[in-house]
Amino acid sequence: MEDERQALLEAAQELLRWEEELGGIGVPSFELEARPAEPLAVERQLVPAPKPRVEPVPAAEPAAPNEGRAHLLRVLQEKAAACTACVLHEGRNQSVFARGNPKTDLVFVGEGPGYHEDQQGLPFVGNAGALLDRMVTAMGYPRDGVYICNVVKCRPPQNRTPKPEEAGSCKPFLTGQLDAIRPRVIVALGRCAAENLGQVEPGGRGWRGRWGTYEGIDVMSTYHPAFLLRSPQFKKPVWQDLKNVLRKLGKPIP
Ligand code: URA
Ligand code: SF4
Repeated sequence: MEDERQALLEAAQELLRWEEELGGIGVPSFELEARPAEPLAVERQLVPAPKPRVEPVPAAEPAAPNEGRAHLLRVLQEKAAACTACVLHEGRNQSVFARGNPKTDLVFVGEGPGYHEDQQGLPFVGNAGALLDRMVTAMGYPRDGVYICNVVKCRPPQNRTPKPEEAGSCKPFLTGQLDAIRPRVIVALGRCAAENLGQVEPGGRGWRGRWGTYEGIDVMSTYHPAFLLRSPQFKKPVWQDLKNVLRKLGKPIP
């Protein structure tokens, strides 16, 4: 009970901070429940379930799919740790695979690791990550209730945008992650993610705030939190985009 109240208090404080970030447009309601993800198509393919002799309890989540998903992600992460498929491996301290909960309905895709991410081996742990965390908690998710990854898994020199051939070399990791998780919604953070998820042509305009799909999964493209740190006036449209994501997920809209 005490823990619950503390958690609610902290969530409310997060909300107030994010409200300040948004220039006071108001973020009144939220929920803290993480939703379980649906069983995965990829796992059903890999591990055909044996015919049950009795009707399965509908609410029960089968154990095998989650193990399949966790295994797939573990294998991919090990492969990324040893990967030398593009030049970005030369400058990395370590590859940066993901953080958060793979059993989620919401995945955020950024560009690539920066200095702090390369040091810690986790995505979005610098200033942009702190802002992303505030966006996530303002939406009503626990910080680690979503899954967060990048287009490329190794830090580009001087944090430059990944080149198309680098993003291309790294693509199997991203597609593997998205295929294992099969979230209900993907948020593409910034132009690089939007382009690499096929949401806009290279250099195309008008991409922010648009719905698209990636392998049958709904994709919302919005501005990158690092951009918002430099141009805070765009936090408001980004919050509109995130509210549209909540609507798509059937969650309460602040
Ligand atoms: N920016 C990104 O796109 N990804 C990170 O992991 C950190 C900053
Ligand atoms: Fe491999 Fe991706 Fe790292 Fe390039 S960025 S070396 S493709 S893991």
